[in-house]
Amino acid sequence: MRLIDGKQTATEIKKEIAIDVKAMVDAGAKQPHLAAILVGHDGGSETYVAFKIKDCEEVGFKSSLIRFEDDVTEEELLAKVDELNRDADVDGFIVQLPLPKQISEQKIIEAIDPRKDVDGFHPINVGRMVIGLPCFVSATPDGIVELLKRYHIETSGKDCVVVGRSNIVGRPMSVLMSQKEMNATVTVAHSRTKNLVELCANADILIAAIGSPEFVKGNMVKDGAVVIDVGTTRVKSDKTKSGFKLKGDVAFDEVAGKCSYITPVPGGVGPMTRVALLKNTLLAAKKEIYK
Ligand code: GUN
Repeated sequence: MRLIDGKQTATEIKKEIAIDVKAMVDAGAKQPHLAAILVGHDGGSETYVAFKIKDCEEVGFKSSLIRFEDDVTEEELLAKVDELNRDADVDGFIVQLPLPKQISEQKIIEAIDPRKDVDGFHPINVGRMVIGLPCFVSATPDGIVELLKRYHIETSGKDCVVVGRSNIVGRPMSVLMSQKEMNATVTVAHSRTKNLVELCANADILIAAIGSPEFVKGNMVKDGAVVIDVGTTRVKSDKTKSGFKLKGDVAFDEVAGKCSYITPVPGGVGPMTRVALLKNTLLAAKKEIYK
């Protein structure tokens, strides 16, 4: 079994981005600028946004954090989205999800200018991805594709099972794996799937994006399979400084001995998701997707 080191790979890509940014700025361009809107004080969202801001600093991007309290109205949030859409200094921005229940996430996502939608959540970007046009791809699936490529993992003709059909991970992941670049034969499994254990146990590449800690057990993995664990459930822990630790969707100890490659949690997909957002912001700053 070989561990897929997302942390190390992300560090390498961040160095590549930093070199690119320095060359741009030395040539007279402005610093790429990512803005993040954070609503409320959810611990997970606070942590993720703090990481995104730190990542920007590391590669030489400018970043802005815009905060609202939990009781923000949809109108106030839409007004801020409109302002960022018009702000020529902001290359890309994200609205950290989830949002409080008085706000329609879909309405907010659709208000973002697709040219600045570095999360790749706007239907224009999702649609362009589905038909293989240049677009901002959702960060987690993009990070996973990058990992598979950098580890030279054969995907062509392989049977790939994606467990989970979320708009952010499972569904875009299944599309990317089926496209010409990856050439896998893809099945999307979900809560109504029959014979899930057998289905997973026949997969050459198993991508677990369910959000249920240690859902994938040893009997669900074929000998020699490639296992990608997207799970990041925060559970309480008295062993960490933060009081939390991340749990993956895969029972690592049961599965690791059977597979050919596996991503750990933490240190697998997570760091690649973060770096994919930086990649999209750089593409936005260079106007490489929408000229
Ligand atoms: N919440 C969980 N993951 C994400 C993400 O990738 N982007 C945003 N905006 N919110 C999230």
